Amino acid sequence: MATAIVTGGSKGFGRAVVAALVDDGWDVVTDARDAGALTATAAALGPRVHPVPGDVEDPAHRAALVAAGRALGDVRLLLNNASALGPSPLPRLRDLDPSELARLHATNVVAPLALVQLVLPLLGRTGAIVNVTSDAAVEPYEGWGGYGSTKAALEQLSNVLAAEEPGVRVWWLDPGDMRTDMHQAAFPGEDISDRAQPDDVAPAVRALLAQRPPSGRVRAADLLAEVGR
Ligand SMILES: NC(=O)c1ccc[n+]([C@@H]2O[C@H](COP(=O)([O-])OP(=O)(O)OC[C@H]3O[C@@H](n4cnc5c(N)ncnc54)[C@H](OP(=O)(O)O)[C@@H]3O)[C@@H](O)[C@H]2O)c1
Repeated sequence: MATAIVTGGSKGFGRAVVAALVDDGWDVVTDARDAGALTATAAALGPRVHPVPGDVEDPAHRAALVAAGRALGDVRLLLNNASALGPSPLPRLRDLDPSELARLHATNVVAPLALVQLVLPLLGRTGAIVNVTSDAAVEPYEGWGGYGSTKAALEQLSNVLAAEEPGVRVWWLDPGDMRTDMHQAAFPGEDISDRAQPDDVAPAVRALLAQRPPSGRVRAADLLAEVGR
């Protein structure tokens, strides 16, 4: 099978996607800043998971991540999942520290594009790029202006990339609300137990790769409905 590079695979949605891809026979190179958590996840998910600890904001780390994929060979998928939420509780735009906004864009927009630039030459005709977005990219939720603006930027970047690179599929995937550390940070102290488990959303990526729809914005809920989940 082929190799996938998935950022932020130690927990949450990234971990669930890594597990689903491994089940389907992929080798998966993945990262996270917390090396201990990443190593533990890789050990739990088996030898097809290749952990490369580091921060996607770091160019040397990005090069190492992609080099690990190249060493395995046949890189067919880049899934930009790692993201920052910003301050918790979420501040209104009038209170958002501009340096926090710049940092959010570095993690959620600049790093994914830098990885796309490194991976594009490796992707064959069946290659794909998945950029994980959010409904906060398009909805005016109060407090979500910083994070939401990064996801809006990621969506338009994906949109233009799809036009410029017709030889690869580029999808920007809205996973919907999930019960993760990031979601809890967005709703501090609130009960989020009604949100979907990441393991129940990850099959949307499997459906996406199987269906290979044209490049564009996709919602996990729609993909899951199509496969009867
Ligand atoms: N949860 C939701 O309800 C929801 C809804 C819509 C969209 N999303 C999107 O879904 C994706 C996954 O979110 P999640 O809820 O699963 O988040 P999460 O539970 O916070 O997990 C994020 C993962 O990314 C890693 N990560 C974060 N910053 C990183 C960095 N700078 N460099 C390398 N790795 C980094 C984290 O590990 P370390 O902290 O150790 O680095 C962790 O493995 C994100 O793109 C998010 O915007 C989530």
